[in-house]
Amino acid sequence: MSKGVTIWFTGLSGSGKSTVALILVKKLKNAGRNVEILDGDVVRTNLSKGLGFSKEDRDTNIKRIGFVCHLLTRNGVMAISAAISPYREVRDYNRSLIGDFVEVYAKCPLEKCAERDVKGLYKKAMAGEIKGFTGVDDPYEEPLHPEVVCETDKETPEQSADKVLKKLEELGYVTTEDLSRAA
Ligand code: ADX
Repeated sequence: MSKGVTIWFTGLSGSGKSTVALILVKKLKNAGRNVEILDGDVVRTNLSKGLGFSKEDRDTNIKRIGFVCHLLTRNGVMAISAAISPYREVRDYNRSLIGDFVEVYAKCPLEKCAERDVKGLYKKAMAGEIKGFTGVDDPYEEPLHPEVVCETDKETPEQSADKVLKKLEELGYVTTEDLSRAA
């Protein structure tokens, strides 16, 4: 059985987590690996339906995603999480739970995320129509020692995904043969 791992993306809304994660999914599938993605927006329509954005609800959301990643990882799956996961403590909780855990920080200045405003939510948050929006009037705690930093305002999504693949190879979660098939 191939070695499972959780690839944990964290970063502001609009920082490119899902974009990079989806490229990674495609490449890992090309390599013949079993991959599953847990995307914040998708999880919130089923597994975490009904949860809001208080610290407590966000922590519950992140622990649920972590629990599913844990089950997948121990069965040889590459589990990819793409949720803001703004709090360091609960990310570290998942790291301890899962063990095989690679944290990827989708690093992008707030101004750039707000400029992209893919979902139009920053505009609303800055106008005070949405309260407690991450980075605007709610905290985002940067990871202190992420395995990978993707500077999504400076790299293409493809380059960011390749950085993650390279780290996965370094850590022994993918082989050189996997990488040659991943392209
Ligand atoms: S997390 O904080 O619990 O990790 P998650 O990634 O699941 O967040 O959901 C974030 C998405 O929900 C954002 O990309 C955005 O589309 C939407 N959203 C709605 N309200 C908020 C808010 N107050 N803060 C952040 N994101 C919000």
